[in-house]
Amino acid sequence: MEAVTRLDELRGKRAKLPDPVGFVPTMGALHAGHASLIELARAQCRSLVVSVFVNPLQFGPNEDFSAYPRNDDEDRRLLERLGVDLLYLPDASEMYPRQLDVFVEPTGLAQYFEGEKRPGHFRGVATVVLKLFNMVQPQRAYFGEKDAQQLAVIRRMVADLDIPIEIVACPTQRDAEGLALSSRNAYLTAQERRNAPRLYEALRLLASQLEAGIRDVAALVKTAEQLLPPLREDYLGVVRPDEFRPLWTAPPSAELLVVGAAYAGRTRLIDNVKVQTPSKQEVQKT
Ligand code: PAF
Repeated sequence: MEAVTRLDELRGKRAKLPDPVGFVPTMGALHAGHASLIELARAQCRSLVVSVFVNPLQFGPNEDFSAYPRNDDEDRRLLERLGVDLLYLPDASEMYPRQLDVFVEPTGLAQYFEGEKRPGHFRGVATVVLKLFNMVQPQRAYFGEKDAQQLAVIRRMVADLDIPIEIVACPTQRDAEGLALSSRNAYLTAQERRNAPRLYEALRLLASQLEAGIRDVAALVKTAEQLLPPLREDYLGVVRPDEFRPLWTAPPSAELLVVGAAYAGRTRLIDNVKVQTPSKQEVQKT
């Protein structure tokens, strides 16, 4: 594996890589969730580029940018083992050599949930991802389904701006208790770690009731949120995966996502569960 920190070096090495090039953008502190993206990319592409960059633009002023876990040596060893060809490790001055005057500003999809709770977050994500796409010029890019709204924003950016890159989504990886793997799990104390799977339990309860044909989302959220304490709810909701607008009545025969975010102590967890709602006829039969 070659590792470069400068854009001119990246461009030089990238030009020599055989296509198709797969790309996995990350913020480091890699875990089995990242490994699954990288393994899929390795299997599907002739060349594989990974970036590690903790992007200041996507963190709010009171968020965890300076505390974000950094594990450079372990990350490198894992990436070597996974057969990555080229690792791009820019620093902030390489990524943002001057104050930006032009940003990618997602609108409709970024209005609710993460977009509402973290103003400016998706502008930071979309801007850095487009910059990375232009730098690496991959044919395919890989993103985890855990950050489902991020995935929807990136898919939409690629469609709306005619970016010739295929976006590949990879399933959320969970630990034995169901907690979605995330770099931020490193912040959890032992007690918080025991409580953290409650978010997934609440989402699954909501999902199972939607699957049973119950359609009143507000009532379902009320029941599900009782499972959360001592986690502190940030939001629970139900959306169409390509729209991310809160639904108050679940439509029949629809593929939906139950989405949620909650705090375990000061650590913010997010997660989601896919649901297929039954048709009206199926509900009548039961
Ligand atoms: O999901 C992440 O790790 C980040 O949001 C990404 C896509 C690498 C952009 O900084």
